[in-house]
Amino acid sequence: MEHQFVLVLDFGGQYNQLIARRVRDMGVYCEVRPYTLTAREVAALNPIGIIFTGGHNTAYHPDSPKADPEIYKLGVPILGICYGAQLMAHQLGGSVATPSQREYGSTAMTLEPSSVLFEGLERLQTVWMSHTDYVDKLPQGFVGTARTQHTPYAAMEDTSRKFYGLQFHPEVEHTQNGLAMMHRFLFDVCGAKGDWTMATYSQALIAQVREQVGSGKVLLALSGGVDSSVVAALLSQAIGNQLTCIFVDHGLMRKDEGDEVEAAFSGRELNFVRVNAAERFLSRLEGVTDPESKRKIIGEEFIRVFEEEARKIGNVDFLAQGTIYPDVIESGAGDSAVIKSHHNVGGLPDHVDFKEIVEPLRLLFKDEVRALGTTLGLPDYLVWRQPFPGPGLAIRCLGEVTEDKLTILREADFIYREEIAKAGLDRSIHQYFAVLTNMRSVGVMGDQRTYDYTLALRGVTTSDFMTADWAKIPYEVLEKAANRIVNEVRSINRIVYDITSKPPGTIEWE
Ligand code: XMP
Repeated sequence: MEHQFVLVLDFGGQYNQLIARRVRDMGVYCEVRPYTLTAREVAALNPIGIIFTGGHNTAYHPDSPKADPEIYKLGVPILGICYGAQLMAHQLGGSVATPSQREYGSTAMTLEPSSVLFEGLERLQTVWMSHTDYVDKLPQGFVGTARTQHTPYAAMEDTSRKFYGLQFHPEVEHTQNGLAMMHRFLFDVCGAKGDWTMATYSQALIAQVREQVGSGKVLLALSGGVDSSVVAALLSQAIGNQLTCIFVDHGLMRKDEGDEVEAAFSGRELNFVRVNAAERFLSRLEGVTDPESKRKIIGEEFIRVFEEEARKIGNVDFLAQGTIYPDVIESGAGDSAVIKSHHNVGGLPDHVDFKEIVEPLRLLFKDEVRALGTTLGLPDYLVWRQPFPGPGLAIRCLGEVTEDKLTILREADFIYREEIAKAGLDRSIHQYFAVLTNMRSVGVMGDQRTYDYTLALRGVTTSDFMTADWAKIPYEVLEKAANRIVNEVRSINRIVYDITSKPPGTIEWE
């Protein structure tokens, strides 16, 4: 890679990836690695700076994670955050203690504006503290540069060795000028140039993929979702027609969605296979009403289709996946990450003898993935697509799934999405869709009695989809969507809006 590199050494704190994220946002490339890296391994990475993360351990405890002491002799600037600062003090000859008063949350701090990290800042700052221990004696060569009521060395530095320690967390929003402090460390202390952009990153990823894959064949299950679409675009630029993307159209997509996915990928330098499998999915779903059974059948059938296609291609060495950072489960401080055992389309086909998995997005957050997609030239409608469940409309069509009910739901959902977009709400409401309930009720239309379906509209705001609030969509928007749906879609005579948050509800109805 031809850009500067900052190393984040992971001591197990909860904000590790957030630190990396902040550094990258400032235009400096950065990766999180385990604290077990030796000084020699660190030197080989040639970092312009190192950040020690926080962590829940006590630095002076014999079993707590330690940095290789030789790292301090590399001549590379180091910023220690919370546990990272305490560890630095402990390893360099100062001392760490456990005070009677624990400091947690927003805390007033008085700083020395002469410190390069604090240049231009007011003396009094609000910072975010979350620690049980603190530095009570500075190592030789260090001076204290900030204090709080209970923490004598809320910040410390040794400018000759370019070592800095912060007891608080500059990476979180609650620290008023935390990002300015990180910026000072990167640009004024480490000499960062801000030479990292998504464009340079995408080039680096392309080079990495080429190196990993060589002349091997790669298979990707393309769902049309953001992550697999970005992987497809990236791999198509990296390895052209060594890649085959299999898009299983199970007939449970939203209106025009299958064609949109095909249009976005069929013109590229890659082998794109669309398998129109609607009939076999629908026939397997015939008469099935239990939500879990529906999900199971769809998952199984998906694997079967995927396997059949993979067998046709033959000799595939690599399976590509759109795993992104939130999908990666950390197995504890500094240990290598473990991937979720299940693939998001329902499990890996086991007959295909893959040598390796290709996961180019595994260090990125969702919005970074979106930015990468845009850099790679993907259209906005793919990059900003809201999450869509693998089983598709089958779990939004309550009770038995039939072609007729799917058609009604598709049209209604399309109108709803159109009205949300027209109102400019399509990025602020994180997921929104229609659900065709299996319930019928009496209505009146043109002096005629009707007995038709009730449609539910759903909209949620959420940061992680684990919890969610129901979206406060303006009445006018709901009214317009409801009017249009009842007038333009047959067999719907009543519309309700779902005002259940998660928990206790789930986002999907089945
Ligand atoms: P729930 O309904 O559990 O949904 O609150 C949380 C999020 O996950 C999506 N979802 C799925 N995504 N395969 C997927 O890839 C699935 O089987 C599946 N089920 C739910 C849902 O749309 C929401 O964003």
